[in-house]
Amino acid sequence: MGLESVHESLWFIEERGAFGDRMRALSGLNPPPTSVFVLTDHNTNTHCLPLFKAHWPEAIPLHVLNIPPGEASKDWTRVPELMQQLSALGADRSSLLIALGGGVVTDFGGFVASVYQRGIRFGLIPTSLLAMVDASLGGKTGVDVEGVKNLAGRFAQPEFVGVWPGFLRTLPESEIRQGLAEMLKQGLMLSEAHWGELVAAESRWVEALQSATSEAQGWIRTSARLKLDCVASDPDERGSRAMLNFGHTVGHALESVFLEKRRPIAHGEAVLFGMRVELHLAKAFEDLEEREMVLGVLRRLGNLEESVPLKAERLLHFARFDKKNRGGALRLALPERIGKGRWGVECTESDFTSAIQLEWGCGGH
Ligand SMILES: NC(=O)c1ccc[n+]([C@@H]2O[C@H](COP(=O)([O-])OP(=O)(O)OC[C@H]3O[C@@H](n4cnc5c(N)ncnc54)[C@H](O)[C@@H]3O)[C@@H](O)[C@H]2O)c1
Ligand SMILES: [Zn+2]
Repeated sequence: MGLESVHESLWFIEERGAFGDRMRALSGLNPPPTSVFVLTDHNTNTHCLPLFKAHWPEAIPLHVLNIPPGEASKDWTRVPELMQQLSALGADRSSLLIALGGGVVTDFGGFVASVYQRGIRFGLIPTSLLAMVDASLGGKTGVDVEGVKNLAGRFAQPEFVGVWPGFLRTLPESEIRQGLAEMLKQGLMLSEAHWGELVAAESRWVEALQSATSEAQGWIRTSARLKLDCVASDPDERGSRAMLNFGHTVGHALESVFLEKRRPIAHGEAVLFGMRVELHLAKAFEDLEEREMVLGVLRRLGNLEESVPLKAERLLHFARFDKKNRGGALRLALPERIGKGRWGVECTESDFTSAIQLEWGCGGH
């Protein structure tokens, strides 16, 4: 996968009219799909599907499939149901599945498309900020198995990713904040300029993004491009792509702990906490004043509900599952300074648990 092809399959759509043009142009896909399935969750079905449908070319039959919102839908046990629905509606190798939603819908839809009949065509239309700048980009699909995040997954490239920031108008503020967590991560690890432009606008983040102002569109475009450049230079995650995992060793472990308690927490929320913890492990981040400044930005962006008991030991248990680890040591992606990250940084289990206790405040209560 070359840099050009991933960038070409990303359509960054600035206006409502242009969104309609892009959707109509889907009838011109070569070869044309025999049938099209659009996967939504209840929220995107209400808020995003009407616009999508209004522009859909009538000549192509459209079937809508709908799942409940939330991480619980991205579960291994739900795969057969969607496959059976596709099969009953006659989906074949020439069908196209379009996932219209946040990262849950794009991960789940992409995964099912990549295994149904050994793989059918799919496209993604991310409707949450997190999906626009992160989840829909880079060809990773996946589902959770028995509470372990993304334990089953495939690398599979969508035919297109259509980003239209106008969908953010109905996205709740808490979800906007989660997308911002991933954008800040991309700035911290990959671009000082992106970090700088975001931090300078802290007071107007939510409003600008929910109104999809041209400034906010610029942030989304930059963040999405940073992610794509990183992915294109290492599509199978053999090296530098792991940079995007900053905050995710702790973040994914935290998600697993909460999944296990059957009280799933949001990915962005977990990653935000993960970044705060992992910053304490970033020993190379020598400028302590700068590190405090970064921590301040992350802490203001969001806090976990800390009344929930959390055992550092349990987090460590899940962190050991992490696909990035090799040979027993924990390996993390950490910033060296703002805008420059490293991956494969080894960390001892005791440093890991101490860092969790620093950010959790009350330790393993
Ligand atoms: N594949 C990847 O590379 C990758 C990267 C990052 C995250 N992820 C995955 O993405 C998932 C998180 O994504 P998410 O935060 O988008 O979660 P999500 O899909 O659950 O969306 C968050 C919430 O916003 C709602 N929503 C989405 N768009 C809306 C809109 N326009 N208006 C109103 N409501 C809307 C959804 O219904 C949901 O309730 C996690 O499962 C995570 O593992 C994958
Ligand atoms: Zn993430």
